[in-house]
Amino acid sequence: MKIILSGYMGSGKSGVGEMLGAKMKLPFLDLDDEIVKVEQRDIPKIFADSGEIYFRRKETEILSALLDSTQDFVLSLGGGTPCYGNNLDLMRNNKNTSLVYLKTSLEELKRRLWEGRFSRPLISHLETPEVLEDFIRKHLFERTYYYNQSDIIVATDDKTIEEVSDD
Ligand code: S3P
Repeated sequence: MKIILSGYMGSGKSGVGEMLGAKMKLPFLDLDDEIVKVEQRDIPKIFADSGEIYFRRKETEILSALLDSTQDFVLSLGGGTPCYGNNLDLMRNNKNTSLVYLKTSLEELKRRLWEGRFSRPLISHLETPEVLEDFIRKHLFERTYYYNQSDIIVATDDKTIEEVSDD
């Protein structure tokens, strides 16, 4: 079984994925980490030096390879993964694969992402929490169409990582 966690930046995909992997005795993989491993440079550097389109191409390439492998795993995606190219169809059409959307409110995302903005090139330049909130509101609205096509939707706002992984 391949379990894939999607959701906006800051929705807890990596933390939940790690715990879920341990509970289900499945290896945990993080798509961003896999990209960093192949590229030998971090995500802000990939965006800065090669651009977002290059990053998106790598993202699809590595996701496809993981989906094609016979290995079972828990995989956390990047926040944009299901929203680009044919990534969503690749995941939805893959055998024995369950796509889970970790759904987090705007308020909660704003709080978490203001703290975590510097590792994320799409938001690291935003200067105030208000500007960040406007960005997230619009971006989340655009992306929710894709996230909602997951097999399972789990609300994460008031829950610990452990509670979310139990759900
Ligand atoms: C992105 C989210 C990031 C990372 C990249 C782009 C996005 O992952 O893939 O910075 O488009 O939302 P996280 O969701 O783990 O922050």
